[in-house]
Amino acid sequence: MHVLVLGGTTEASALAAHLAGRRDLSATLSLAGRTSFPKPAPVPTRIGGFGGVKGLGHWLTEHRVEAVVDATHPFAAVISRNAAAACAQRGVPLLALRRPPWQAQAGDRWIDVPTMPDAVAALGPTPRRVFLTVGRLELPAFAAAPQHAYMVRTIEPIGDALPALDVVTIQDRGPFGETDERRLMQEHGIEVVVTKNAGGAATFGKIAAARALGLPVVMVARPPKPDALTVESVDAGLAWIEAHGRAS
Ligand SMILES: NC(=O)c1ccc[n+]([C@@H]2O[C@H](COP(=O)([O-])OP(=O)(O)OC[C@H]3O[C@@H](n4cnc5c(N)ncnc54)[C@H](OP(=O)(O)O)[C@@H]3O)[C@@H](O)[C@H]2O)c1
Repeated sequence: MHVLVLGGTTEASALAAHLAGRRDLSATLSLAGRTSFPKPAPVPTRIGGFGGVKGLGHWLTEHRVEAVVDATHPFAAVISRNAAAACAQRGVPLLALRRPPWQAQAGDRWIDVPTMPDAVAALGPTPRRVFLTVGRLELPAFAAAPQHAYMVRTIEPIGDALPALDVVTIQDRGPFGETDERRLMQEHGIEVVVTKNAGGAATFGKIAAARALGLPVVMVARPPKPDALTVESVDAGLAWIEAHGRAS
């Protein structure tokens, strides 16, 4: 059985690691190519877009894919829509592996917003020191709020995404623990954090740190994803693959 894992997440990499070296199936990990030096995976990896629903559909047929696991990031909405459409058209079983969103707890001061422009507006007119952890591609929205000072952390350099603004950049890749996040926020005098509700443990440290420091967090809600059979853990994803292997 050939399994295609749509990746770009910790869970996709973990699933690929479990599928590596198996004799009863082959797995391919697919990455969009957003980061220049992705962590090497122990299974064959293809990098770059497929060319929409049609391109993905051709790829599934050409490579005799018998099961697809959409383990993409909760904010990667287009590829999930494309996967649902292509799998439906080609009759390939699809599983979505989606980590649950973070839930506010006692002590959290979240400002929930539906979109990134709403997050920009939620910062308000008064200048503040903002910790932005929203991903490089979301940064241009914050050019509309030049009154704030930003500390921006991304995996890739931000280039000219926020030109002529008061910006401190940090290039780093998670996981990030609470203690380090707390120290970082204190060192930079951070007053508010902006994040997507990505869920998962690897980047939860900033949420715990903000809670401990009593800082507000502007929390951007997830975009809608297509209906699909969904599990929340790598183990449940593996069980689904095993069941398909037996059935086919
Ligand atoms: N969005 C985030 O906040 C975020 C955070 C961390 C990691 N990621 C990861 O980064 C990647 C891109 O995210 P995005 O938000 O830009 O996605 P997106 O908006 O849903 O997808 C845009 C296009 O990128 C290509 N693509 C996306 N994921 C792909 C994959 N795993 N393999 C091959 N092509 C892929 C597809 O191109 P074609 O139409 O040409 O096939 C898709 O139409 C995803 O793999 C995601 O898991 C995203």
